[in-house]
Amino acid sequence: MSWLTSFWRSSIGGKVTMAVTGLMLFGFLVSHLLGNLLLLQGRDKINAYAKWLHDLGPLLWVMRIGLLAVFVLHVATAIRLSRANKVARPVAYRKPNTVQANMASRSMLLSGLTLLVFIIYHLMHFTFGVTNPGHHALKAAGAGGHDVYAMVTTSFGNPAIAIAYAVFQVVLFLHLSHGLQSMAQTVGIHHARYTPMIKTVSFLVALAIAGGNAFLSLSVMFGLVGGTQ
Ligand code: HEM
Repeated sequence: MSWLTSFWRSSIGGKVTMAVTGLMLFGFLVSHLLGNLLLLQGRDKINAYAKWLHDLGPLLWVMRIGLLAVFVLHVATAIRLSRANKVARPVAYRKPNTVQANMASRSMLLSGLTLLVFIIYHLMHFTFGVTNPGHHALKAAGAGGHDVYAMVTTSFGNPAIAIAYAVFQVVLFLHLSHGLQSMAQTVGIHHARYTPMIKTVSFLVALAIAGGNAFLSLSVMFGLVGGTQ
């Protein structure tokens, strides 16, 4: 176990941990968005998907605990790396490139911590039903299960909630577009020829994910999705 801790504590080990956990969280975001897009196909589709997930039972809990562990590791490593950076270089940099890199890692920490606030709010909203218990308690007709379609459309029918979600997606976009680039660099894809392409791909992928989430909340707000509860 100690070699694992020493690896994690090393500079390269920290970066690899960030890249691997970041990739896993990215995978979750893609599958979460694909699932949520079923909202566009109507109540039955998304409710059936939510039921399928919940019926996984213990496996769902294994996945949830795994996701939480990966998330905690990602945040803890980010905080450790940022502290180590400060200790290693307490005086400001002179070279513009290093200043840029330092600003980027600082803004990653800031956007990451802002996302943490979003996730806590999001879980209290949709998973635990703390912020809007009325929306969470909606039951699907017939089956009597949890009506995810009604919960989401009722929530995003409230402009304050829909806009808050969309604003957080701007932060998600910033975090992802830079994070994906860094991940590519960590795994060694760092070449004058490929770097501009990696930047463009990271930008577009981040835009698709954050934009897809924002599209969902805003399209319900504008009445394009939902309507009759
Ligand atoms: C418009 C965008 C989004 C919608 C409509 C949405 C919807 C939902 C819903 C309905 C649940 C509850 C699942 C359940 O317990 O039945 C959920 C859980 C969750 N969401 Fe989202 N979500 C969105 C964006 C995001 C984003 C951007 C993140 C991460 C940055 C995220 C992270 C999570 C996590 C970690 C869970 C807990 C997973 C679980 O309970 O197993 N979501 N989301």
